[in-house]
Amino acid sequence: MKALILSGGKGTRLRPLTYTGAKQLVPVANKPILWYGIEAIVAAGITEIGIIIGPETGAEVKAKTGAGDQFEAKITYILQDQPLGLAHAVKIAQPFLGDDPFVLYLGDNLIQGELGGLLKVFEQKALAALILLKSVPNPSAFGVAQIDEQGRVLKLIEKPPVPPSDLALVGIYFLSPVIHQAIAAIKPSQRGELEITDALQWLLDQQKPVDSCQLKGWWLDTGKKDDLLEANQLILDSCLSVSNAGIVDAASQISGRVSIGATTQIINCTIRGPVSIGSGCHLENCFIGPYSSIANDVTLVDVDLEHSVVLQAAKMIGIHQRIVDSVIGQRASLKAAPQRPKALRFMIGDDCQIELA
Ligand code: DAU
Repeated sequence: MKALILSGGKGTRLRPLTYTGAKQLVPVANKPILWYGIEAIVAAGITEIGIIIGPETGAEVKAKTGAGDQFEAKITYILQDQPLGLAHAVKIAQPFLGDDPFVLYLGDNLIQGELGGLLKVFEQKALAALILLKSVPNPSAFGVAQIDEQGRVLKLIEKPPVPPSDLALVGIYFLSPVIHQAIAAIKPSQRGELEITDALQWLLDQQKPVDSCQLKGWWLDTGKKDDLLEANQLILDSCLSVSNAGIVDAASQISGRVSIGATTQIINCTIRGPVSIGSGCHLENCFIGPYSSIANDVTLVDVDLEHSVVLQAAKMIGIHQRIVDSVIGQRASLKAAPQRPKALRFMIGDDCQIELA
């Protein structure tokens, strides 16, 4: 069993963050989204992992994620010149996949729960494909499944304007090598992509055994700002453990689950967890409220912030209004004059410079 993680594509929905970086590397609770997928795959006992990368962000994904040693896996990078679809990515990965079954994992998907049980079902039933479904309020934004009363999959359609159900295809698929035959048989969709949904429909048309499981835990396709903030909240709620490798002065108050990275200085701050703070940060006279993640090398002085994600080396000084529901890009700089607007809500991209005068 191998794994193929898709980390190519353009990431237009998370712009401006993804003008300068891969969307799969955007951190959730200070860990790149992609790494959660790698960890889940390794936890299921799969250690041969291929990662599809694109020309714009591939080097960054590769540099950050490495050859797999830190995950106790072997990672092979496969360049996809253009994002021509999920099935296209599988097609170009065929030399890596060979005749092995594999789990196809979309690098921007985050799920709660483990893959081991699903893998067992896939293997025991000798399926051509095992898909994961989740009821969503906006099925038109996804691949959608129509199932019968017994839960058998009848039909799969990619982003239908009139969805036959509210069951979306989660971006994790267990596939047998027959999928390569299916991909060879399908044509690009209207949006010009080779769709994995169409390849799965081909398997159904050929009476191959395709089964589905409904995902019980949460699932996030972290394509948009609010999804990212929600993912951050869910991960901080479920996975954060208390640790302090930083320097906290006596005037600071820390409560709840808070993790603080090495050499981070906390001076006269109130921090209410769950909060994850990276290493090399400087926080002075701040209130940091629940569900905030602050990456490495961030400077916050006179800042009041909660339910927000601050990326690496961002700097915020003198923002006395509470910052909520915000994503602050890498190296972004915010400096405020004493006059105070009533509310601020940001999605600020990498390298932005903002001064509230
Ligand atoms: O998230 C679940 C949904 O993912 C499914 O419900 C849909 O059926 C499936 O088509 C897919 O839809 P998206 O439109 O959300 O896929 P997206 O273009 O965002 O790509 C998903 C991941 O795959 C993302 O990490 C980028 C990567 N990718 C995408 C394409 C099109 C590649 O590596 N290569 C590609 O050619």
